Amino acid sequence: MSDWESAPLPEALLRSDGIETPVAVVDVAQVRRNAEKVAGYAAEHGLRWRPHVKTHKSRRVARIQMQAGAVGLTVATAREAEVMSEVSNDLLLAYPPVCSRTLDRLTALPSEVRLTVALDSPEVLVPLSEAFHRAGRTVWVLVEVDLGMGRVGVSEPRDAVELARLAENRRGASFEGVLFYPGHIRAPLAEQTSALDEVEGRLLAFVGALDANGLTPHTVSGGSTPTLWRSHEMSRLTEIRPGTCIFHDRDTVSLGVAESQECAYSILSSVVSSPGAGRFVLDAGSKALSKEVLRSEGDGYGLIVESPGTLTSLSEEHGVVQLSPGAAPPEVGARMRVIPNHVCVSMNLQEGFVAVEGDDWEFWPVDARGRRPAVSG
Ligand SMILES: Cc1ncc(COP(=O)(O)O)c(C=O)c1O
Repeated sequence: MSDWESAPLPEALLRSDGIETPVAVVDVAQVRRNAEKVAGYAAEHGLRWRPHVKTHKSRRVARIQMQAGAVGLTVATAREAEVMSEVSNDLLLAYPPVCSRTLDRLTALPSEVRLTVALDSPEVLVPLSEAFHRAGRTVWVLVEVDLGMGRVGVSEPRDAVELARLAENRRGASFEGVLFYPGHIRAPLAEQTSALDEVEGRLLAFVGALDANGLTPHTVSGGSTPTLWRSHEMSRLTEIRPGTCIFHDRDTVSLGVAESQECAYSILSSVVSSPGAGRFVLDAGSKALSKEVLRSEGDGYGLIVESPGTLTSLSEEHGVVQLSPGAAPPEVGARMRVIPNHVCVSMNLQEGFVAVEGDDWEFWPVDARGRRPAVSG
């Protein structure tokens, strides 16, 4: 056994005549506890919680988040927006939509949906606002700012002011505020102080410039799972959008953001070969776990709960485990759980997952998986 702590699975799931492996398994009671913990933190600090659904893409998990106190949902794709519009009327698309077909899908969302979009250029804002105007609707705009991530986001306060003013003055659009993603902060929780100070300094420069130009943001949307419990240190933040924290994974536990028993997701797999030579093989390969390496310190493509060893190499359907010295090789057919390094990309590979509650389980679909693009001429 590793020193990872996980609630036991129902006996029937561990029998070889039970469910086929590899399969994703989610502990629903732990999901509820994770949701309530974030909701409690957000309430304590006067922050609105708008979870990112990219982690689960599941209507039922999104409903758990809404029931726990989420104010709305964050999405990254038109497909996620369509699916999640059945769960919440308050959606944030934290991704710039550039295809006109995507605009068609966004303007076709149910009329009661209040859609906010984060963007960083007039090239996205102008067609978006035109499309919403033509549809007789309004889109709310968050100007995305780059506070060190080096991905999307304007890098100068004056550019944010210009874009905010454009949003304020365009028909079909209304300026709502600013958005940033501190995804570059991947240090352990206790070692984030200087990076957070830097983010705070840059954020105040952007918000100050907007204030000075009569464009005070109603919403300042930020937050990630690694920085989750320190979000309140960013003054002017009004909203947090963590995603991974609904399940957690090997990465967030190794950063000290969660305890191992708070991990609600694993891949249940079977030993398919135990040829000696200090190794065995699981049926969980890159098509179940993804090939993400641990972003913090540590080896292997995931953590095996029931056996001491390292998942050193993955083929598409094979996961090769090097046993720790002195560890007994498992029998072929033995079942083990693997905690992925990064849960969001593993979930995206699944059609659905086994949702376990006590001794019961059922299959929940990953509803918003894929893109379902409109491809016809
Ligand atoms: C724009 C945006 N917001 C929020 C999140 C959620 O962050 P995390 O996965 O750290 O919970 C992500 C993650 O990719 C993101 O890209």
